[in-house]
Amino acid sequence: MEIASSLIYLLLCLSTLLLYHFIKKQKRNSKHKAKLPPGSMGWPYIGETLQMYSKDPNIFFASKQKRYGEIFKTHILGCPCVMLASPKATKFVLVTHAHLFKPTYPKSKEQMIGPSALFFHQGDYHNSLRKLIQSSLSPNPTTMQKLVPDIEALAISASESWAAGGKVINTYHEMKKFSFDVGFLAIFGQLDDTYRERLKENYCIVDKGYNSFPTKIPGTAYHKALLARKRLGQILSQIICERKEKKTLQKDLLGDLLNFQDEKGQTLTEDQISDNIIGILFAAQDTTASALTWILKYLHDNPKILEAVKAEQKAIYEANDGCKKPLTWAQIRNMPLTYRVLLESLRMASIISFTFREAVVDVEYKGYLIPKGWKVMPLFRNIHHNPEFFSDPQNFDPSRFEVGPKPKTFMPFGKGVHACPGNELAKLEMLILVHHLVTKFRWEVEGSQSGIQYGPFPVPQHGLPVRFWEESNNLK
Ligand code: HEM
Repeated sequence: MEIASSLIYLLLCLSTLLLYHFIKKQKRNSKHKAKLPPGSMGWPYIGETLQMYSKDPNIFFASKQKRYGEIFKTHILGCPCVMLASPKATKFVLVTHAHLFKPTYPKSKEQMIGPSALFFHQGDYHNSLRKLIQSSLSPNPTTMQKLVPDIEALAISASESWAAGGKVINTYHEMKKFSFDVGFLAIFGQLDDTYRERLKENYCIVDKGYNSFPTKIPGTAYHKALLARKRLGQILSQIICERKEKKTLQKDLLGDLLNFQDEKGQTLTEDQISDNIIGILFAAQDTTASALTWILKYLHDNPKILEAVKAEQKAIYEANDGCKKPLTWAQIRNMPLTYRVLLESLRMASIISFTFREAVVDVEYKGYLIPKGWKVMPLFRNIHHNPEFFSDPQNFDPSRFEVGPKPKTFMPFGKGVHACPGNELAKLEMLILVHHLVTKFRWEVEGSQSGIQYGPFPVPQHGLPVRFWEESNNLK
């Protein structure tokens, strides 16, 4: 009797075990029933990298979408990728299923900026740090609003220097200086000149080497950048020490980072603070400079829109006695046409044309398999240039923003957990600079006016060489 019951027990255990393995296998099989998206993987190892970089990458993406639809596979820069060109797929990856996809950057870039920078992370560290940065850069009276007079002073000084001497300027380079100064202001408030110059000098070396070939051979741009990055860390450490010694709470981003405590009461280390400061400067500079350069180009190429923007801004200029009074927050929030020009420029130029994530597990989307470890690229530009969402998409038409775009079709600042926390600051500095440019200056583009260069963000050819003049009919 006892032997019989033991046998039954053993049989039960065995059948449960077999059933478990059977279900597991079925699950695995059903997962693998999902097929890979359509598309071509190109040559072994190099994939389709050459095709993508030998022509305008946007033509590469657009022709792929035309051929394969809104989800397709390819192989670039040594990685298998799935590209997504629909708002729904983008929402799936960046918002609703963001936990299945992690941010991914080349190791060389991570090392240069600093591994603790916000955008390399996911989870608790990312969430709490992001909340802090977002609130520090939010448009309320104690944070961004109080930066207006200083940003205005930077805009006035920059625009006057461009018009001095009738020289031709490289718009993108000049916009980089302006957006860097604004980023600096948001991070450090008013900083001692010696620190400012040392940080600027080393940051420029890092910036130059960032996109160069990553090698530690002395004398190369990348190696010089690594050394400059080390010096930046040392200078930031001195600034942090001084702040801590003074024990005064400065209300700027550095002050907020120094004051940070997570739910467990954990504060940030000096390295974490430095990595995030450098990360924010990187995220803020080229993006905003590129957007500003495009705004100038689109206004230049569309004289009627420029005239209408001038009229809107002249009304504010006159209300402020020809710039004798500073711009108020209420005035900046009430520039409807200029704001639409800004949005349309962001759509047309789609500065961040796409972003990268990596699948952390096998993921199934609409019957397609996105295998674990594959890169996933939501293609913002394809969505911004899809005639289904934006009619006549190649036409610069700010009036299309008189009504809001269809949901999830306009993402110049990304979407979801990694969406841009600096978007309000970027818009603020753009509006302030445009106000001063259109009310006091005229500009002419020199040489060829077409063509785009990538560095890595799209910029008009040669950085848009421009000559500025002060307008004679100003109120003084
Ligand atoms: C026109 C200017 C700008 C554009 C078009 C832009 C665009 C974007 C986009 C699309 C993302 C998301 C990237 C992704 O999902 O992978 C992003 C992230 C980010 N941006 Fe911006 N940005 C701009 C200006 C700024 C400024 C001024 C700052 C800071 C002062 C800033 C700080 C950041 C940071 C820290 C992140 C990473 C957020 C995270 O990973 O949680 N950006 N930006």
